[in-house]
Amino acid sequence: MNGQEKRTKEQRGIWSRRDFFTRLGWGGLAFFGLAGLIGFIRSAFPRVLFEPPKRFKAGDPKDYVPGEVSEKFKQEFRVWIVREESGLYALFAKCTHLGCTPRWLPAENKFKCPCHGSGFFKDGTNFEGPAPRPLDRFKIELGEDGQLVVDKSRLYSMKPGVDPDDQHPESVLKA
Ligand code: FES
Repeated sequence: MNGQEKRTKEQRGIWSRRDFFTRLGWGGLAFFGLAGLIGFIRSAFPRVLFEPPKRFKAGDPKDYVPGEVSEKFKQEFRVWIVREESGLYALFAKCTHLGCTPRWLPAENKFKCPCHGSGFFKDGTNFEGPAPRPLDRFKIELGEDGQLVVDKSRLYSMKPGVDPDDQHPESVLKA
């Protein structure tokens, strides 16, 4: 191998290493460029949670039978509507122990939580199990068209040991 060939090989070696780093550099640049582009495209389509609206219409007050618990809006809105002689109220179907969804048991005239066994009377008062306080209620009112409207943004939070109708009389709609 003469001197010129040796130099050419050495040069090629240097160039190939340089090539490697150049490619690595471009590869890194392309990677971060692509990651940035993907991030930008994703930001144009934000993940949106489609929650049910906070206010919903609940029909004609006459549709509710005195003494009955309506489960019509439990699945979609997690609300029971109860009509008593005193009026209508909207109960939040969320156990005040750890937040499970209780069941209405008409034969026993009570709500029963499947998680740890808390029981609630029809007005929401807790009477058995670990739930520390009555079920909460939402605002229920009459809309301009005479239909019931439940407003889930207005929560009547219940304290323990006091009749729910007494601590939040405004939660009962006389209709
Ligand atoms: S969550 Fe209802 S009793 Fe525990």
